[in-house]
Amino acid sequence: MNINGVGRVLVSLIGCMALHLAWVTPGFSGQKVNWEAINPELKGAVSVGKSDDCATCHSDSIEAFEKTLHAKAYRSLYNKEGGSSCEVCHGPLSKHLNASPEDSDRKLSTVVSFKNLSSQNKNRICLQCHEKGTKMHWRGSAHEMNGVGCSDCHYVMEKRSNKFMFAFKDSKKVCFQCHQDKRAKMYRSAHMPLREGKMSCSSCHNPHGGLGPSMLKESSVNGTCYTCHQEKRGPLVWEHAPVRENCSTCHDSHGSIHASMLKRKVPYLCQECHSASQHPSTLYDGRNVGGSASQSNRLLGKGCLNCHSQIHGSNHPSGARLTR
Ligand code: HEC
Ligand code: HEC
Ligand code: HEC
Ligand code: HEC
Ligand code: HEC
Ligand code: HEC
Ligand code: HEC
Ligand code: HEC
Ligand code: HEC
Ligand code: HEC
Repeated sequence: MNINGVGRVLVSLIGCMALHLAWVTPGFSGQKVNWEAINPELKGAVSVGKSDDCATCHSDSIEAFEKTLHAKAYRSLYNKEGGSSCEVCHGPLSKHLNASPEDSDRKLSTVVSFKNLSSQNKNRICLQCHEKGTKMHWRGSAHEMNGVGCSDCHYVMEKRSNKFMFAFKDSKKVCFQCHQDKRAKMYRSAHMPLREGKMSCSSCHNPHGGLGPSMLKESSVNGTCYTCHQEKRGPLVWEHAPVRENCSTCHDSHGSIHASMLKRKVPYLCQECHSASQHPSTLYDGRNVGGSASQSNRLLGKGCLNCHSQIHGSNHPSGARLTR
């Protein structure tokens, strides 16, 4: 490669890095908060610039906050602009600083406290910087619509988890606060390795909302499953129609008492759809029970799967009946 070529590569590399940084570093990319609208007492208040003065009364909070990722990020991002890092979430605090130390009611009314905010206003404060990336579909998501807030899952005033500033050390506990039934299912005999810690709810879901059903990470159930179970994607010569359509027709992703997380036991599962009057259903409707050897064979063991073992589809030239 000649010098010119190297130069061009370097220039484009630097360009890419700058773009990348702009994308991954959430500055004030979203809508700025109108503090006065959230708390009318803040009318006329201005930024005090630094948090040194807060330490007299809030040293515990400051000490805890200093260990969080935000504190680190803010030091490099905002302190040089002069804003106090506390003020990005608690509003401009000149009035709060000037209020009499004895008047704690006045102190409390001249600051944005999260204790008495609507979840919408709480979220607004975070969305100033976090509206992009995985939070793109937050607005209108089932969580947003049902009043769930960023701070139900995240805790920003002290470091409680190693990643993602969760409100609890264990990310699953974050979800089980509200989705108790999923906790029970996780402890059923057939499950994906969640309780072993190899997966989490967010392996399949984007709790901030997504384009697909049930806030899944991909736009469909199957698309989500294929990210790990690629072999089920195909292409297959002989397809089994319901598999292409929706894995959840037969599987309960959260856990089941039936093998392979099936929603029902085989053959009942199969008979939900295959109730034609010939081969399959006649096996179980009583009339032919105890008939020929091959028929009773069909009643034993895993039933249908003994013969139709390629239940997700087949690539064998003569696999049309999913038997090989
Ligand atoms: C002279 C003491 C004093 C100083 C200095 C002070 N505060 Fe406060 N702050 C208070 C008092 C008193 C309250 C009300 C406490 C209460 O009732 O919980 C309060 C409340 C708050 C709250 C709301 C807490 C809650 O319960 O939700 C925040 C946030 C806050 N202060 C941040 C700051 C920041 C940031 C600074 C520096 C810019 C600062 N304070 C400076 C005394 C002080
Ligand atoms: C990223 C946003 C954010 C920043 C930055 C921030 N806070 Fe907070 N603060 C919160 C939230 C959210 C709560 C409510 C926590 C809860 O109880 O869920 C809170 C609560 C508080 C409280 C009430 C007591 C408590 O711990 O719950 C105090 C006091 C406080 N903050 C002071 C500060 C000070 C001082 C700074 C600057 C060093 C600061 N905050 C920076 C978001 C922030
Ligand atoms: C229902 C729980 C829940 C709510 C509500 C929630 N989050 Fe999260 N958040 C998570 C989980 C779980 C992860 C980790 C995702 C992963 O494993 O990839 C996360 C990750 C993040 C991350 C870091 C990684 C990324 O995806 O960018 C940021 C930033 C974040 N959340 C901000 C927010 C903000 C801002 C809000 C409110 C608008 C919010 N979260 C609401 C659960 C939640
Ligand atoms: C002033 C801008 C700003 C505000 C406001 C803000 N954040 Fe952040 N947040 C950042 C920056 C910068 C980072 C660190 C950069 C990064 O790695 O994403 C970050 C990182 C995070 C992370 C990711 C932690 C990780 O381990 O990856 C979470 C979660 C998060 N913020 C949640 C919140 C929540 C909840 C609020 C509201 C209470 C909030 N943020 C308010 C700027 C902000
Ligand atoms: C503060 C309570 C709360 C927490 C915490 C919470 N959720 Fe939810 N979640 C809800 C509510 C309320 C709904 C909407 C009603 C419903 O479907 O039950 C919901 C709905 C959902 C849905 C269905 C979405 C749809 O479009 O039908 C999924 C998926 C979900 N939550 C996943 C999670 C995951 C994953 C976590 C943990 C990261 C989590 N939730 C944490 C309250 C919560
Ligand atoms: C292997 C992928 C996968 C994992 C891991 C997963 N889910 Fe789901 N979840 C799904 C699929 C697919 C659906 C939608 C269709 C269905 O119900 O089967 C769904 C639906 C949901 C719903 C809405 C419908 C309902 O059943 O209430 C909630 C709430 C939910 N999941 C919560 C969770 C929680 C909490 C966790 C973590 C304990 C979790 N999920 C882990 C795949 C998953
Ligand atoms: C993040 C990766 C991941 C995703 C996404 C995922 N799985 Fe899995 N799944 C696994 C792992 C890992 C196992 C355990 C494999 C093993 O033990 O060999 C597993 C096992 C299974 C099993 C067998 C369970 C048993 O008890 O034998 C079924 C069925 C299954 N997954 C269905 C699904 C469905 C349906 C989806 C989509 C809703 C899905 N998976 C999405 C990783 C994933
Ligand atoms: C028509 C019902 C049905 C549908 C739909 C279905 N499966 Fe299955 N699946 C089964 C049955 C039955 C078994 C048990 C097979 C056995 O025991 O031999 C199984 C087993 C599995 C297993 C564990 C054994 C293996 O083959 O690795 C995984 C993983 C799995 N399915 C993933 C999926 C995925 C991903 C989808 C969607 C693309 C899906 N399944 C759709 C019926 C179905
Ligand atoms: C949700 C409905 C549904 C369920 C559940 C279901 N199937 Fe199917 N199955 C279909 C459909 C639809 C076809 C395609 C029929 C066609 O093309 O005429 C099919 C095709 C088949 C075929 C190939 C037949 C042919 O004519 O090509 C076999 C074999 C089969 N299924 C066996 C099973 C077994 C075994 C189970 C249980 C593990 C099962 N199916 C569960 C809907 C279902
Ligand atoms: C002993 C092996 C065996 C068992 C057990 C068995 N099948 Fe079959 N099945 C076959 C064979 C072989 C064919 C192909 C017949 C043909 O081509 O005429 C077939 C054909 C089918 C077809 C294609 C449509 C039809 O009627 O020809 C369906 C659907 C089907 N089986 C479903 C099932 C279901 C559901 C079960 C369990 C209730 C089951 N089978 C159990 C061997 C078996």
